[in-house]
Amino acid sequence: MHRKAVTVILLNSLIIPIILAGDNLPRARTEQGVYIGSRSTINDITVACWYGIPYAEQPVDNLRWLPPLPLPTSNDINIADTATLCPQLSSFEPPYTEACLTLNVHAPENASNLPVYVWIHGGSFTTGAGGSYNATPFVITSINYSAPIVVVTINYRIGLLGFLADEAFYNGKSGVDGRRTTGNYGILDQIMALDWIKKNIRSFGGNPEEITIGGESAGGISVSVLLTSPLVKTGTFQRAIIQSGGIWPNATKDLQTAFDDSGNILRPLVNCSTVECLRNLTVKQILRAQKTIASKNIFGTAATPVVDGYVLNDTIENSYARGNFQKVPVLVGSTTNETSLYTCQVFQGSATEAQRYFPKYNLTEEEKQLSINMMRYWANFIRTSNPNFEGSAINWNTYSINSDNDLVLDTALRMRNYHYKVACSSLWDLYATTNDTPTSSAISSTKSRQRFQSFFCTVLFQIILCTFTRF
Ligand SMILES: *[C@@H]1O[C@H](CO)[C@@H](O)[C@H](O)[C@H]1NC(C)=O
Ligand SMILES: *[C@@H]1O[C@H](CO)[C@@H](O)[C@H](O)[C@H]1NC(C)=O
Ligand SMILES: *[C@@H]1O[C@H](CO)[C@@H](O)[C@H](O)[C@H]1NC(C)=O
Ligand SMILES: *[C@@H]1O[C@H](CO)[C@@H](O)[C@H](O)[C@H]1NC(C)=O
Ligand SMILES: *[C@@H]1O[C@H](CO)[C@@H](O)[C@H](O)[C@H]1NC(C)=O
Ligand SMILES: *[C@@H]1O[C@H](CO)[C@@H](O)[C@H](O)[C@H]1NC(C)=O
Ligand SMILES: *[C@@H]1O[C@H](CO)[C@@H](O)[C@H](O)[C@H]1NC(C)=O
Ligand SMILES: *[C@@H]1O[C@H](CO)[C@@H](O)[C@H](O)[C@H]1NC(C)=O
Repeated sequence: MHRKAVTVILLNSLIIPIILAGDNLPRARTEQGVYIGSRSTINDITVACWYGIPYAEQPVDNLRWLPPLPLPTSNDINIADTATLCPQLSSFEPPYTEACLTLNVHAPENASNLPVYVWIHGGSFTTGAGGSYNATPFVITSINYSAPIVVVTINYRIGLLGFLADEAFYNGKSGVDGRRTTGNYGILDQIMALDWIKKNIRSFGGNPEEITIGGESAGGISVSVLLTSPLVKTGTFQRAIIQSGGIWPNATKDLQTAFDDSGNILRPLVNCSTVECLRNLTVKQILRAQKTIASKNIFGTAATPVVDGYVLNDTIENSYARGNFQKVPVLVGSTTNETSLYTCQVFQGSATEAQRYFPKYNLTEEEKQLSINMMRYWANFIRTSNPNFEGSAINWNTYSINSDNDLVLDTALRMRNYHYKVACSSLWDLYATTNDTPTSSAISSTKSRQRFQSFFCTVLFQIILCTFTRF
């Protein structure tokens, strides 16, 4: 379900006393003041929700196409009841705003020190919003089955506003310490959101030292970028979930290709030759140009992350193969047929477009059970690095180089061997652990003996989307 995109209402001092005297709503104190949330109850289980909390200076005017800046501290009292949506083209979406760097928090009522799941939405880096996934059922299920978690869904800049790579922006003023960056604004937003979450999640009931990042499709690619980015500090997150999109073919571009595929196409389209002219464009003009660019891409993507020597210093594939990634427990899956021709034809380029249609679909009883199983596996992984729980329908074994095992998350759950033999053997086997012992190649190619656990799965396409929208 979507919420209208309106920026957070800042109450002035005249209104505060009325709010303070009002309902005993959930509150959280952050470095930017107090946020008043709301409650949502299903079958006697209550979740506290906050929507549309800003986590960075909004990237408007002269801040467009710059890395996000941290917010100043404040003692304001704010109502956090409306999620925002970054600019995108879609007849299905409510109004968008360029001031969209906000996040939404869902937590068990009166929670304290719980593990946190940070959800990075998909949508070909071109559509979607944190608020598209209603995390309330997930949090309620986590409470109901004694594995409570806090879920944060984040927005990041998308489309050309999030991933335009332009030579003129690639200068010594674009990154910290005089380093240059362009084309990864959306990823820098994700890193900024993680930083805000680390500093503030405690007052929402979360534990800043127990953070799992996860996403689907472009969100899954984002997780791989965050796992391999030299800009992300060790300890930023403790676990990762890649729900499809793990190693997408050519998900990242080299700098020159990125310039040629975005900045150098945009300039003539909008008749701009300077940075000032580009920053002066209206969002509508940018979206119109973006439509032209995205229509030529099979996935409906306007622009993707870039190997800019700042956010990324190599492709995801090479960084994984060389061991340059955060060795945290990972749950990796691929969504069945996400890239199939059928889906792309029906949904005109973006498989994730399909998700808009699924709220109309009612799950069968078996599918509801699968959805509950998935949420329980996910919540337990987020809490303990092990998705299994007391009485799991099936034991989901750690990936083993000897059997190339994966879990088929279908209405008939089953473990399977050798399905991904070639792909897994050539890459993940380098770093997988077998019976808790790192393989010899892992020891030789990584300096530390950090355990790198991974769980593989394949997920029925429609279920994964339904699980995170409704059930
Ligand atoms: C909690 O779990 C029980 C049994 O497993 C189920 O009957 C009930 O509907 C669940 N409650 C919620 C709110 O999901
Ligand atoms: C949460 O705290 C409030 C205020 O102390 C209390 O009224 C409410 O019952 C608590 N809810 C739960 C689920 O503990
Ligand atoms: C990327 O950066 C990491 C961390 O600074 C470094 O270990 C690695 O060698 C770099 N890779 C390349 C290809 O420069
Ligand atoms: C990836 O890019 C390379 C070089 O541009 C190209 O040769 C190759 O076909 C691309 N692979 C896919 C799967 O698109
Ligand atoms: C592009 O800008 C130039 C200089 O401002 C102007 O002369 C020209 O008409 C513009 N072209 C289009 C297609 O807007
Ligand atoms: C910015 O846009 C305004 C109004 O469209 C125009 O008057 C002005 O010349 C533009 N500035 C630049 C640097 O393009
Ligand atoms: C996935 O695609 C294959 C063919 O590429 C097809 O045989 C299979 O039925 C599809 N599976 C689903 C779940 O749609
Ligand atoms: C789904 O269930 C609801 C409520 O039971 C019903 O109104 C709706 O028609 C059903 N939709 C479909 C597509 O079956």
